Amino acid sequence: MTKTATAAVLTAAHSAPGLDDVIAAETRLSHVDGQAGELVIAGHRLADLAASTFEEVLALLWRDLLPMPMEAPEIRTALGKAREKAFALMQPLLPGLRALSPVEALRLLLAALPDEARAPHAVLAVAAVPVFTAAIIRQAKGLAPVPPDATRGHSEDFLCMLRNETPTADKVRALDTYLVTVSDHGLNASTFAARVIASTKAGMFSSVVGGLCALKGPLHGGAPGPVLDMLDAIGSERNITGWLEDALARGARLMGFGHRIYRVRDPRADVLKAAVAALQDGAGRIAFAGKVEAAALALLKEKKPLRPLQTNVEFYTALVLEAVGFPRDSFTNVFAAGRMAGWTAHVLEQEQTGRLIRPQSRYVGPMPD
Ligand code: ACO
Repeated sequence: MTKTATAAVLTAAHSAPGLDDVIAAETRLSHVDGQAGELVIAGHRLADLAASTFEEVLALLWRDLLPMPMEAPEIRTALGKAREKAFALMQPLLPGLRALSPVEALRLLLAALPDEARAPHAVLAVAAVPVFTAAIIRQAKGLAPVPPDATRGHSEDFLCMLRNETPTADKVRALDTYLVTVSDHGLNASTFAARVIASTKAGMFSSVVGGLCALKGPLHGGAPGPVLDMLDAIGSERNITGWLEDALARGARLMGFGHRIYRVRDPRADVLKAAVAALQDGAGRIAFAGKVEAAALALLKEKKPLRPLQTNVEFYTALVLEAVGFPRDSFTNVFAAGRMAGWTAHVLEQEQTGRLIRPQSRYVGPMPD
């Protein structure tokens, strides 16, 4: 970083403890325009990518970053082989994970992958999350893990490993849309964490485990499960307004609303709402959720007039992931399955172009006499 840039960081940090508005990296991977409500991923508007496969978006994100260039068909094949590898690596570790939550178990399994692995790290990292997550979910239900099928697409195989049956095409499409939608999102907390670790040259798996640890928190990727808890607690249409008013009066946050960057509606919410609406059995749930959303937005406008609070990605994430069959305590893992695309690309970009990330703090403690 130049001296001028360093000075800018320091000046901003004085008045912005959350590093708001600080530019800490240059990237060609994604751009978030919080005022316009627009997300661009590798040169494409999210709405234009919504019908792409996850492998196609990986090809865009990894372009010029992998040791060997790969387009979507090669990525599909490489992911299939890497899922098999991840399955073999996981088998001896799985029984030791029973006491952990799904995201803690995923964290432990990812941490077991060696940074010096010879397979392309980015491919193995992306391949591993669905393999580990499906097995963790099945083990919690007393079921044996289902081995991957390397001939299938990534999303289809994820659902196969989860349910041990071939999923319907609409569910595969919905999961693909979800993984694409959350694949990258500027310098969010988890991506920043991964880049900081990558900047020390610690390696791919160390970096993405750091990303996962940051994602786990409810202010970042831990919110979609609680969105469903909120919908269940509200229960019926006649309770909506009363329940939301009580929650706000208690000072609680409504899960699935508000964002550090977006001051208008999160563009990912609309893409995911359309994905739920396209599912055969999505209509009833989406109608109820839509009413909760409308009431929440009206109340947030009334009670928090100084802060524009809109629907964020987590609200409709909850409905998509519930509809395709994931238990709510595993939603953060599925988020990680998509965001692993962005983390790996950012780690590769940081390794290629970056410098050790080492900001400064402003000391406010006592000085020695
Ligand atoms: N419900 C009620 N009030 C809210 C909400 C909410 N969801 N979000 C923010 N506010 C209020 C705060 O209480 C605060 O009000 P105050 O000034 O009267 O105290 C004001 O808005 C500003 O809050 P901050 O925490 O400063 O805003 P920040 O930009 O840091 O918060 C965040 C962003 C963490 C996402 C927040 O909106 C939130 O907690 N939302 C609920 C959890 C959630 O949906 N998380 C997923 C985020 S999406 C993602 O990361 C993938």
